Amino acid sequence: MLTLLKLLKDGRFHSGEALGAALGVSRSAVWKQLQHLEAELNLPIHKVRGKGYQLASPLVFLNAENIALNAPSLEWPIHISDSIDSTNTEGLRLANSGCPAPFLVLAEQQTAGRGRRGRKWVSPYAQNVYYSLILRIESGLSQLEGLSLVVGLAVMRALRESGVQGAALKWPNDVLVGQKKIAGILLELVGDPADICHVVIGIGINVNMRKADEVDQQWTSVQLETGSPVDRNALVAKLSMQLQAYLERHKTNGFVSLQEEWEQNHAWQGRSVSLIAGVNQIDGVVLGVDHQGALRLSVNGVEKIYSGGELSLRLRDDS
Ligand code: BTN
Repeated sequence: MLTLLKLLKDGRFHSGEALGAALGVSRSAVWKQLQHLEAELNLPIHKVRGKGYQLASPLVFLNAENIALNAPSLEWPIHISDSIDSTNTEGLRLANSGCPAPFLVLAEQQTAGRGRRGRKWVSPYAQNVYYSLILRIESGLSQLEGLSLVVGLAVMRALRESGVQGAALKWPNDVLVGQKKIAGILLELVGDPADICHVVIGIGINVNMRKADEVDQQWTSVQLETGSPVDRNALVAKLSMQLQAYLERHKTNGFVSLQEEWEQNHAWQGRSVSLIAGVNQIDGVVLGVDHQGALRLSVNGVEKIYSGGELSLRLRDDS
């Protein structure tokens, strides 16, 4: 099926006969594969009598050389899969089997992409960016302080460079345009955080996705925001360059050196919010973040600090 997709990726018309000849199968076998393509990969295909078959929009596949051309100073080896359960899981597997970090894992599709708080991350084929960077952490927990927030800054900058001027941050690590989510970040840790461990920085960016009924929250994509299809290789290159630079600053000077920049780009700075922790809800006004990236809320006029992977923020109507 993927061979057929690669024949169609140029977005031009191909006759059933030509496709059958290239694949060494009959025209009716081509027809069946096309139906699978549409159903399983959610890729619309135009069928025109006398002309043949055409992908509704041309596809550009992820390509390590292309990424390297756009990011010449990138030092991370890149592993690209066509289809994988989750790039985070694959990163952990590779690290466990001795692959030396840092390295990058990308995929065209995730069959079990995961988000924060046990949610699913919708990951259709060849439309978005599913990106995991695996780092080795040697200097203990302090290297992790505020890390996910710093990753958010890098994602936000890469999106703005790609034309999404309205990209902004939402604590702890969502990237929004207005009220709509365009990217999410999931950090996972393996090993002993007090000694040597690996952190997987998982980033999902909605890039060329225009329709996704399964997403259970307000969302947008780079294409929906800019009005034109985006070259995912160029976006991965921009993201990697931003990440490389921000991670270096974080390692050298700590989150404290980026705290102000983060607050300046926090979409909900000064807003009235509800902090949700399981069944509990705390209402307050966002003051900012502390030196470790924890949320500072004014609750009934008293400053309180909150951190933890299971927390989420909602805007209150009176904001
Ligand atoms: C969230 O906002 O809930 C976090 C979403 C993180 C999704 C990315 S996609 C690449 C990596 N692999 C995964 O399974 N999840 C992260």
